[in-house]
Amino acid sequence: MIDPLLDLTEEQRAIIETARAFGDEHLRPNAAAWDRDAHFEPSLVPALGELGFLGMLLPAEYDGLGLDARSYLLALEEIAAADASTAVMMSVHNSLPTQMLLTFGSAAQKQRYLAPMARGERLGAFALSEPDAGSDAASLRCQARRDGDHWILDGAKSWVTSGTHAGVILAMARTDTPDARKGAKGISAFIITPDLPGFSVGKKEDKMGMRASPTVQLVFDGMRVPADRLLGQEGMGFIYAMQSLEHGRLGIAAQAIGIARAAYEAACTYVTERKQFGKAIAEFQAVQFKLADMATRITAARSLLHMAAAAKDRGVEIGAQSSMAKLFASETAMWVTTQAVQLFGGYGYVKEYPVERYFRDAKVTEIYEGTSEVQRVVIGRAALSGL
Ligand code: CAA
Repeated sequence: MIDPLLDLTEEQRAIIETARAFGDEHLRPNAAAWDRDAHFEPSLVPALGELGFLGMLLPAEYDGLGLDARSYLLALEEIAAADASTAVMMSVHNSLPTQMLLTFGSAAQKQRYLAPMARGERLGAFALSEPDAGSDAASLRCQARRDGDHWILDGAKSWVTSGTHAGVILAMARTDTPDARKGAKGISAFIITPDLPGFSVGKKEDKMGMRASPTVQLVFDGMRVPADRLLGQEGMGFIYAMQSLEHGRLGIAAQAIGIARAAYEAACTYVTERKQFGKAIAEFQAVQFKLADMATRITAARSLLHMAAAAKDRGVEIGAQSSMAKLFASETAMWVTTQAVQLFGGYGYVKEYPVERYFRDAKVTEIYEGTSEVQRVVIGRAALSGL
């Protein structure tokens, strides 16, 4: 249950109800099978588009719902509580490529790509990491060189969420030259579509969790990109990516809270049904204390997230707060799902119940869109500069 202290509007309650109904009908009944088969269900993309959930933050002129960040994050939590894999697809799409286009794109670029993305006709992806450039994102090596009215891109991007089905990918590549490297300022952002010559989808990862969300490498082999696909200014791609990740990390926090909540709710039900030593295990104080700590941490994580999101909606800079929300929510998800598995005992360790999936799904929230260590770097630097 969403905390009543959040003081939600009627519209926000309606969004939560819509997301919950979608999760109950389309996600919860299928999540275990999709996880087992590592199956991405493509029909979810137009279905979420139909609901407006792929353009939640986009203005109406691009067929979006024009909602604030808090409303979007409430919907995302509900979707994540039903199926975390669907939530990461929705989070990446809404937080990274669409936001990058909306914020830094030209009028023509926005006109061309945003409305089809909002309608669910083109799924969005974000390609920053490379096999040798993860936390140290500025060390990426994918190279772009100008050739008349095109850029030629060569390199590989990795860990690309939804990369198999993406219709628009915001990819970062170097536009400086080997003899004059400019570090983070030598990186530019490009709008990539899978029809470009030289584009291919590489290895699909066989993952511990989030198995219904395809994570792939993308290979750019002499890929010819029309010059008008450069996003914003040359050399600003790293900064655009960092600014977009501030938003993305709020999405991952909401996703982590949804996973934690699902595990907590499953545990609450289980402990009232499971009998040992002649009574429901819920009657043992040790069990009640675990539930108390789970509920407290989830509520704290949600409070931190909604404080950051409300600040963002007021136009306040939230770099470090976004990292705090992501750090705390993802560590909460890992901790809460670990407690849930423990409360289920042996049944928590088998696939008959969903908590082992929640546990596996939770782990990556401490890794993607910046590891917990990277979040601490961002928060630590802000602390030293007088946060
Ligand atoms: N907003 C604006 N500008 C920013 C910024 C921000 N949030 N963060 C950095 N910058 C600017 C800096 O000010 C600096 O510019 P100046 O030199 O003019 O000051 C420039 O960018 C370089 O910044 P840093 O010196 O801080 O760069 P760094 O190399 O030390 O890196 C880092 C900092 C925080 C570790 C960064 O590399 C980082 O966030 N790494 C993690 C990357 C990440 O999250 N990857 C996930 C990819 S997405 C994914 O997981 C897959 C998916 O599909 C979900």
